[in-house]
Amino acid sequence: MSDEVEVLISKEEVEKKIDSLAKQINEDYKDKDLHLICILKGSVYFATALSQRLEMPVTLDFVSVSSYGNQMSGGKLVVKSGLNEDIKDRHCLVIEDIIDSGNTLAMLKTKLEQKKPASLKICTLLDKPARREVAVDVDYVGFSIEDKFVVGWGMDYAQKHRNLPYIGFIKQ
Ligand code: IMP
Ligand code: MG
Repeated sequence: MSDEVEVLISKEEVEKKIDSLAKQINEDYKDKDLHLICILKGSVYFATALSQRLEMPVTLDFVSVSSYGNQMSGGKLVVKSGLNEDIKDRHCLVIEDIIDSGNTLAMLKTKLEQKKPASLKICTLLDKPARREVAVDVDYVGFSIEDKFVVGWGMDYAQKHRNLPYIGFIKQ
């Protein structure tokens, strides 16, 4: 069965936003190496696009965090697979697709900070501040959106629609 998806943010707007995020990050990390930590699976598309616009030496690693709950609201968080590379004394930037309750990043940030990176910042393509349950300091935000369940640019509904080149929402 196919869902009907309505465009919320166009492909061009997303790409323009990623250009400007990359510009900011290039300025902030000038003369530094940057280690990107991508949260699977959602952040893969954003991380790829962002990393291709970065000018400093960049490395990548992936973590997988799962929430066992219903599809639109999440539940208990478990780190399913961790980092392959040591982050001690490295400048790390966590890449996320969307911050909703804040639980994923609050948990992950605590775990990563224990590994003593030189610095740890967070970059998210989307933010839904109205749904926040736990405070998280977010350093780079693409778009702040209202409380809508969105898909595309890596974000899924029942594992579908990750590949959409725009950000949309499912028409009910
Ligand atoms: P949080 O822990 O509640 O902040 O949830 C973060 C994760 O939930 C994101 O990384 C997404 O994987 C997922 N998520 C939250 N809101 C949406 C949405 O609107 N569409 C798709 N996935 C979402
Ligand atoms: Mg995610």
